[in-house]
Amino acid sequence: MSKTYQEMIGRADLNDLDAILTVANPDNEGDHHGVPSVFDSRFTWDYDKGARPALTKLYEKAKGAQWNGETDLPWETDVDPEKLAAITQVAFGMQGMDLAGTPFAAWGDKEWLEFGVETQNWTLSQFLHGEQGALLCTARIVETVPWIDAKYYASTQVMDEARHVEVFAKYLNTKLSGHYPVNAHLGMLLDDILRDSRWDMTYLGMQIMVEGLALAAFGYLYQLTDEPLLKKLLRYVMSDEARHVAFGVLSLKEVYEDMTSAEIRERQEFTFEAAVRMRDRFLQQEVWERMGVDAKVAIPLAQQSPYRAEFQRMLFTKIVPNCKKLGLLDAADGWLRQRFTELGVIEFETMVDTGEEYESLDVITSAPAEIDA
Ligand SMILES: [Fe+2]
Ligand SMILES: [Fe+2]
Repeated sequence: MSKTYQEMIGRADLNDLDAILTVANPDNEGDHHGVPSVFDSRFTWDYDKGARPALTKLYEKAKGAQWNGETDLPWETDVDPEKLAAITQVAFGMQGMDLAGTPFAAWGDKEWLEFGVETQNWTLSQFLHGEQGALLCTARIVETVPWIDAKYYASTQVMDEARHVEVFAKYLNTKLSGHYPVNAHLGMLLDDILRDSRWDMTYLGMQIMVEGLALAAFGYLYQLTDEPLLKKLLRYVMSDEARHVAFGVLSLKEVYEDMTSAEIRERQEFTFEAAVRMRDRFLQQEVWERMGVDAKVAIPLAQQSPYRAEFQRMLFTKIVPNCKKLGLLDAADGWLRQRFTELGVIEFETMVDTGEEYESLDVITSAPAEIDA
């Protein structure tokens, strides 16, 4: 028996803006946030390394690909947050639209610049919170996954994620002009992933969905920015993220082969829920609030921007081919294919999956000129 949209995403209509905007962070949460969960920490007594050669290869690669966020990035770079904001203005703005009669008609260069700066702070803040989610999820996988090769690999990812949290926090603190708390939709997704006791769900939520989206988003910003510190930071993080997404694809491929169709269907539904949460988060409701514009008015307008539409679709360029590789698209009569069609992202199914692509993104084997370019 399949779940309804109401049961999966808390609303019957995918695009119900009122329902989307009622999701908010609790007030006065303080400096910590606990997610209760009960799960098995698993020992394995099978120490035979190499039973899963693809994971062993990834582990060996990761050992040689560690970098130091303090010493390998040019932190001495002067960053002008207003100049940098030109990128987020393109991805999130409303260039070329007729805004007469809307709250944006009164906006001049000053307001649009402020919007770009706020969006930049918001974007990097969400990356930071997502990275911490990855740190927690991957530490969880070390404990719960039953295979020694996966425990080995996941332990390297824990170090990678600590480094990512460290460099995004440092960039926000020393180069940008403000922080945002975690977006409520992203926070809800991270909580859902951590609350689930099944180890394969941690992989699906984090390695396939959150990190698949991050890999695409980092790649987009990397292409657009010419700020040398951010560019190098993103390129180094992408190199790690590609391994992480590959870790998810290579591990789940084996797990899903032995699942019943009911179990697979549950994974499809979780994938859809995660996709919707991540799409909702990019409506950036907190930024509209900070800019003093009613999100209910701003979002339907912003959604008409072809630049924003393109950016939102592009975020799924890694997720869709990876779901296809895992067999999630077409199982259960193509249920997830229909959902991705509804989200307007099915066309990415023919792109290369990350299980194949990760080696080409490695910064250690790439020519330095390409990294700094
Ligand atoms: Fe990361
Ligand atoms: Fe990652």
